Amino acid sequence: MKSNIIQEITTGNYDGEKIVYAGITHYKFNDCAPQDLVFCGEKQVHKELAKAFIEMQKAAKKDGITLEIVSGFRSKEYQKTIFPCKFKDKLNPSEEEFIARLKYSAPPGFSEHHTGLAIDINSLEEDFADTKEYKWLLEHAESFGFEMSFPKNNSQGLGFEPWHWRLKNK
Ligand code: DAL
Ligand code: ZN
Repeated sequence: MKSNIIQEITTGNYDGEKIVYAGITHYKFNDCAPQDLVFCGEKQVHKELAKAFIEMQKAAKKDGITLEIVSGFRSKEYQKTIFPCKFKDKLNPSEEEFIARLKYSAPPGFSEHHTGLAIDINSLEEDFADTKEYKWLLEHAESFGFEMSFPKNNSQGLGFEPWHWRLKNK
């Protein structure tokens, strides 16, 4: 019988501090307080991230580099709709589907995007790592307070996400 942990996690009913499954770890995050959310372009993010991103975007522009936020704040409720979106039987995935998804997508309640302090920049494709925009970020993002959450061989066992950056120490 399939463990109902998979269903609990998928539906957002799992209430542990972290999920550890098949060598993949996701940590729990709370939704950003509404009063801390602002629009940065078309996306909502935490006001502190907006400040840092706008500075970084300006500096990048001087170097001929365009940076745009393609995903910002996402609530736990919203994550409930996107985590299962690729499953054949939406709230009842096979273990194989679940593990494949867990590697690149956080279950509801466990995404850094909930905090508003993490963003996806420009693209959601792995070949973003071959672009001049990514190379610019590798060189400069840290000085604006950003770090990559999921570099290659990250300790959480997640896939490589060159587009996903968070504000450090937040
Ligand atoms: N892609 C990252 C893990 C997220 O969904 O938060
Ligand atoms: Zn992301």
